[in-house]
Order: sequence, then C-alpha cells, then structure tokens
Amino acid sequence: MYKMNPDYFIGIELMDTQHQYLFELMEKVQTLLKDENILYKYDELIKILKGLEDYTKKHFDEEISLMKSMDYPRLQLHIAAHQGFIEKLNSFEIDAEKISLGTQDQMIYDLMEYLKEWLQIHILDCDKKVHRFMNGEKITAED
Ligand SMILES: [Fe+2]
Ligand SMILES: [Fe+2]
Repeated sequence: MYKMNPDYFIGIELMDTQHQYLFELMEKVQTLLKDENILYKYDELIKILKGLEDYTKKHFDEEISLMKSMDYPRLQLHIAAHQGFIEKLNSFEIDAEKISLGTQDQMIYDLMEYLKEWLQIHILDCDKKVHRFMNGEKITAED
C-alpha cells in the first residue's frame, strides 16, 4: 500500500486515514500515466475521477462537521478551499470527455500534478491548522 509521507499526518486519526486514501488515489493516477498496456485510458481515468469525487465529498463533509463541532474560526476559508478543489475536479471531468490517444497522457499528468500540489498545500497548511487550533493555538477567521 502507498505510504503517506509522515509530514502529512495532521494528528487527527480519522482525517489522517482519509488523507492516506487520497494519496492512494493519486498513486492510481500515476500508475495509469505509466501504464503502457492500456491503449485508451478513458475508462480508467473516469473511474479514478469518480473515486476522487465520491471520496473527497465524504472526506470534506466529515472534516467540516469536525470543524463545526469545535467552532473553528477559519471554517469559511476552509470550505472555500474545498470548493475550489471540487470545481477543479469538475473541470477535469469535463476535459476527460474530450481526451484522445494523443492528449490523454498530458491530461493525466496535469491531474496528477494538480493533486500533488493541492494535497501539499491543503493538508500541510489548512488541515494542519485545524489540529493546531485543537491544541489551543489561536487561529482567526482570516488566518
Ligand atoms: Fe480540508
Ligand atoms: Fe483534509
């Protein structure tokens, strides 16, 4: 199983388990990119995008419930960040409908790079702030 880099553990077990699964999905994107046995990657790509959509929805819902339960001050900015991700994922789904043999690998590569960057920025910054707040650190709505 794909192991998440220890830097990404935020210290909230449920969130860490869910983040790990997101990294596994990203690994699937990478595997698909390198796979030379599949000629047309559309079906596999759609399967992964669906998996990402379903899983992030579940994860975001649970993360938001947790933040609400502790009156987390930075809730709105965090929700906006999740929303940005959902919109980007939607645009990948639209683009996936237009892929061809000649363009598919570029799109899969772009998806992988986006996921890598998003997980890095979001987990290491936004999600970690939730744990810092739990530990008593002052976090404001604008942080
Ligand atoms: Fe989050
Ligand atoms: Fe998260």
